[in-house]
Amino acid sequence: MPQRPYIVGNWKMNGTRAQLPEARAIDRGAARHPGVRVGIAPPFTLISAMVEAVQELTVGGQDCHTQTAGAFTGDVSAAMVKDAGAGFVIVGHSERRAMHAESDAAVRAKAEAALDAGLEVIICVGESEAQRDAGDAEMVVGAQLEASLPRGDGLVPRLTVAYEPVWAIGTGRVAAPSEVAAMHAVLRAKLIAIYGDEGANVRILYGGSVNASNAAELLATPEVGGALVGGASLTAESFLAIVAAAGPAAD
Ligand code: 13P
Repeated sequence: MPQRPYIVGNWKMNGTRAQLPEARAIDRGAARHPGVRVGIAPPFTLISAMVEAVQELTVGGQDCHTQTAGAFTGDVSAAMVKDAGAGFVIVGHSERRAMHAESDAAVRAKAEAALDAGLEVIICVGESEAQRDAGDAEMVVGAQLEASLPRGDGLVPRLTVAYEPVWAIGTGRVAAPSEVAAMHAVLRAKLIAIYGDEGANVRILYGGSVNASNAAELLATPEVGGALVGGASLTAESFLAIVAAAGPAAD
């Protein structure tokens, strides 16, 4: 992996201002691991307060709309996420794909909107348990990626892909390193097919039940450039253990 590992916490629908001290503790801890890039995506309502509270962390959103503004009650545009101080946005998380019926085309449009707004973007893909059991995981996820990726020149430096098998999210059932390696190889080949040589530089994160005990092995797996962490990102203790697995402390 050419770049330093990237460890991103997805707080999902968790966190009020009462959790800002936890974010500050994560921030202080992250500062001790300069070889690791650390981000947190809190709920929209916490983005600007968290940006004010931290120094090292990159703060991000968990979704954005495809349009810049308009009559879309309850939605938030990429420009608004950026205006709140975020540096990146996650799009296409399986919870959004499943619970909000987001198609690959919608995910791609959201990614393009995020890039247009000047944000970095993390595009999530992943297969269901039934798709894996049927032997279709690599075909399904490869097709998802192909249809979800924005196209155009100069995008690669602001692009991250996250492979999150749906059956591993929040279940404690982490994917085996061999399964992760096989899938990340498929995704890498797809990125190079789409972006040419530059596709080799896109970070591919693994997500799904990452914790302090399994992080080191996952992060040592070929083509794993970091982790997208749900439950274990909510406290400094559990999240910083994953950060530590990604790179040594400076002191
Ligand atoms: P868990 O780490 O809780 O399994 O969640 C993973 C995830 O969905 C991160 O986006």
